[in-house]
Amino acid sequence: MNNNVYLIDHPLVQHKLTLMRRKDASTRTFRTLLNELSMLMAYEVTRDMPLQAVEIETPLETTTGHVIDGKKLVFVSILRAGNGILEGMLNVVPGARVGHVGLYRDPKTLEPVEYYFKMPQEMEERDVIIVDPMLATGNSAVAAVRRIKQLKPKSIKFVCLLTCPEGIAAMQKAHPDVPIYTAAIDRQLNEHGYILPGLGDAGDRIYGTK
Ligand code: URA
Repeated sequence: MNNNVYLIDHPLVQHKLTLMRRKDASTRTFRTLLNELSMLMAYEVTRDMPLQAVEIETPLETTTGHVIDGKKLVFVSILRAGNGILEGMLNVVPGARVGHVGLYRDPKTLEPVEYYFKMPQEMEERDVIIVDPMLATGNSAVAAVRRIKQLKPKSIKFVCLLTCPEGIAAMQKAHPDVPIYTAAIDRQLNEHGYILPGLGDAGDRIYGTK
């Protein structure tokens, strides 16, 4: 089932995720852990970035080193919880470009409606990493990927902290070409669209709004 799903099972990632899930983790602790975890996930998701050989001078001699090839990577945050991951990833890839997508769910149709969309220039020459802590129903992720595909980037990856079988199925049905990187695949969605056992509402926990 989980073709194109990469479970980031590094012990540090699993340890931090468990601390974040605890209901008594404070806003400050939650945010700090998310920041640390996002750095570790950035490391995994950028593992296959192409390198370019460059000649450099060390204090002693000339040698060949390697730097990341091509145009700067784009991190796309799905507002608002995506910003929690974005910050950590930018610590590791400080030169990355950043895009934002804002979507809300229409209360009548339950379909995602776009209220904000801002991307860097020259997207067709860039690799895109979309970030959102929770891949739950998959509705906003599917809509965000659909919208970004219109700009024809070189590649798209999706990174979340947590997902569930329903979220994976929705994404893979709509976008089988987009790999999903996650730190955990939880049991299921509840009737309100929350992941079980999950960690609650990621946005509220990052920003202390509940
Ligand atoms: N969004 C969240 O913040 N939490 C969930 O469990 C599902 C979607």
